[in-house]
Amino acid sequence: MTYTDKDNKFKRYCITTALPYANGPIHIGHMAGVYIPADIYARYLRMMGEDVIFIGGSDEHGVPVTIRAKKEGCTPQDIVDRYHGIIKKSFEEFGTSFDIYSRTTSKIHEETATEFFLKLYNEGKFIEQTTQQYYDEQEQTFLADRYITGTCPICGNERAYGDQCEACGSSLNATDLKNPKSALSGNTPVLKETKHWFLPLNDYEEYLKQWILEGHKEWKTNVYGQCKSWIDNGLQPRAVTRDLDWGIKVPVEGGEGKVLYVWFDAPIGYISNTKEFTPDWEKWWKDKDTKLVHFIGKDNIVFHCIVFPAMLKAEGSYILPENVPANEFLNLEGDKISTSRNWAVWLNEYLEDFPQKQDVLKYVLCANAPETKDNDFTWKDFQTRNNSELVAILGNFINRTIVLTHKYFVGKVPKINELNDLDNATIAEIATFPERIGRLVETYKFRDALFELMNLARLGNKYLTENEPWKTFKTDVARTETVLNISLQICANLAILAEPFIQFAAKKLQNMLNLKPMHWFEAGKADLLSVGQAINPAELLFEKIEDETIQKQLDKLEASKKQNAIANATVEPQKANCSFDDFAKMDIRLGTILEAEKVAKTKKLLKLTVDTGIDKRTIVSGIAEHYTPEQVIGKQVAVLVNLAPKELKGIQSQGMILMAENADGELSFMQPEKVFKNGSTIA
Ligand code: 2FM
Ligand code: ZN
Repeated sequence: MTYTDKDNKFKRYCITTALPYANGPIHIGHMAGVYIPADIYARYLRMMGEDVIFIGGSDEHGVPVTIRAKKEGCTPQDIVDRYHGIIKKSFEEFGTSFDIYSRTTSKIHEETATEFFLKLYNEGKFIEQTTQQYYDEQEQTFLADRYITGTCPICGNERAYGDQCEACGSSLNATDLKNPKSALSGNTPVLKETKHWFLPLNDYEEYLKQWILEGHKEWKTNVYGQCKSWIDNGLQPRAVTRDLDWGIKVPVEGGEGKVLYVWFDAPIGYISNTKEFTPDWEKWWKDKDTKLVHFIGKDNIVFHCIVFPAMLKAEGSYILPENVPANEFLNLEGDKISTSRNWAVWLNEYLEDFPQKQDVLKYVLCANAPETKDNDFTWKDFQTRNNSELVAILGNFINRTIVLTHKYFVGKVPKINELNDLDNATIAEIATFPERIGRLVETYKFRDALFELMNLARLGNKYLTENEPWKTFKTDVARTETVLNISLQICANLAILAEPFIQFAAKKLQNMLNLKPMHWFEAGKADLLSVGQAINPAELLFEKIEDETIQKQLDKLEASKKQNAIANATVEPQKANCSFDDFAKMDIRLGTILEAEKVAKTKKLLKLTVDTGIDKRTIVSGIAEHYTPEQVIGKQVAVLVNLAPKELKGIQSQGMILMAENADGELSFMQPEKVFKNGSTIA
């Protein structure tokens, strides 16, 4: 029984999390959007005594994987083996409480997805259609939507993909793109006929309309709104197969060279992972007493609310999700998180850079989760929430209470004496927290739930501060006993109620208090710790994060930005050819700058004295905005020595220093890798 299901309609909970593509590690956007809320939900329900299965796994098919393999010159299997391993390990270290984390290249998944397809095929649930698809003639292959780029017909973005424009978020068909190009060869693709199997979503439109628009008005507005818009626009048949060689083979005649569309096989992964976990898998998927909940990001809404339910309905023996609490996106320092631009905080790197600080990230990402709108993660906010909330509010309250108990009562829970109004009000308030937090978790309001948890710590701090047990100890020991008893009871409540949110700290606190693991319903009471019970010495639950630590992370992001700028910089087009004789006319030598001074009344010019090996001469160079005179003296550089002399600001310049220039107009000297004698030739 839960607070929102008093009649016990649901006997068990099947919780799924979007299977991340195994084409890279996972980042904080994935964690905030999907895995942290799902983990809190699963942990909470287990503490409520509910029967829970919590399913995760890697999505190993699909074009994102083949693109990565192509880029790295290895096989798709190499890619998924590598990233499935990294992702799985990160989840384990982070403490995500999956019952199973498997993968869609498993045998059981291949069998399950194949069987599912065949059942629909044999029952005539698909329609076969020959359509025109883009084909790359040079590469002799049909092109998956992701392999086609072009101009978005809606916003004009020139780098839109064949399935989606990332600039405006529109879903597209490859044939909608203007000026389409194959990402394989760069050529314009041609349209060619090919046969595929389609699930006629239009046949399920009425059903979906009733089920979602009438039956699930309680869904989050972002989810409900997207579903309504899809349904109102009219559903169309969707191809469930693709011309590709990476994926699950289409198991019917005419299916040669084709695979199941990744969005057909991936959600079936939830079922196959359940099968892998337990032979008793059907109760989780086919029994109306099971509450199925899909945790996903907003880009997955249509697949989990329209396509997958239509597949399950077509198959006929499965339950449908009760809720799909999709989140919006998390940005990073004001910019969209992007794998290809390396603009992300990768979970595996976080775990290395911040050992033993899983709770801090979980806390910050939940406190700032993009539940109703896109949100921004900043390192400054991470530091502030750690220092001003976890350390200053939660940690401080617990530490003060335990230290005082040791100081005044040899580490034993003191007795409770006469209660005053404030004590009674505080005890009454403690009793309200489990249900307040529980109802919020059950309705997927994890940020608010966490805020309430912190309110319990705030209540504790206020209670301690108002009662000042360190003062009353000298005058009224009985009062100090009561105050510390109640404060310790608040600590014990925190130890229970914090478990879904910050499980490592909760466990540590339980150990400090010698509290056995408890049921959620047991919280809310002010007698969780018995009088005389010994507690352990205080250990720090959270520690301050210093500015240098944050700066290191900001520097890392800055380096990514630079790297991207270099990668994306437009390169000057090549000039017209010159003959070898033209080139040979230039006499380029190594020379060393001996002296340098600014040319008066100019911003750009430095007057240099250069030892060219031939002579010592004056060269006026336009580098003063990039280098100070002190910075250039002593540098060995490339000099064009036979450039016709020219007078600049009254100075005779005899040659030119050769400089590299990037797209931002930054300059860099051309220096030899080894020091050679001045006058050595360059050719
Ligand atoms: O968007 C994604 O990362 C997909 N790999 C999610 C798949 S969810 C499910 F269907 F498996
Ligand atoms: Zn667009």
